[in-house]
Amino acid sequence: MNLIIINGPNLNLIGKREPEIYGSTTFEDFFIQLRAKYSNLSVDYFQSNIEGELIDKLHEVGFSYDGIILNAGAYTHTSVAIGDAIKSIKTPVIEVHMSNVAAREEYRHTSFIAPNAKGLIIGFGLNSYQLAIEAFLSAY
Ligand code: DQA
Repeated sequence: MNLIIINGPNLNLIGKREPEIYGSTTFEDFFIQLRAKYSNLSVDYFQSNIEGELIDKLHEVGFSYDGIILNAGAYTHTSVAIGDAIKSIKTPVIEVHMSNVAAREEYRHTSFIAPNAKGLIIGFGLNSYQLAIEAFLSAY
């Protein structure tokens, strides 16, 4: 199975950024462990702070990969264009968030990803990504 994790803006700072919300482990360290745990799968990783680059990546992988695990960061709540990109591709997308966005500010309750996603996993810290892999594994 061929999966990709796509992270949006400010998620390159996981481990340093607001550790009381997002923890103190860097995504890179977490990803090394995740890859080792799922060494039987192909799990790629892409991060960008730029909306258009996230859309280009969705287009690139969205007709050949088995699953996309997408944390679009704040673009989740604003980007009609990323929502449209997900509608335009074939590969199923699971929306993930480290924090429980439903328990945070009102503006984080809107998602342009959710209506076009296969499902959502929110609120489990970095473990949200692993739960998304498990969801894809159980769906195939
Ligand atoms: C986030 C939640 C978003 O609201 C926020 O803008 C982020 C991180 C999360 O993983 O909890 O950048 O996507």
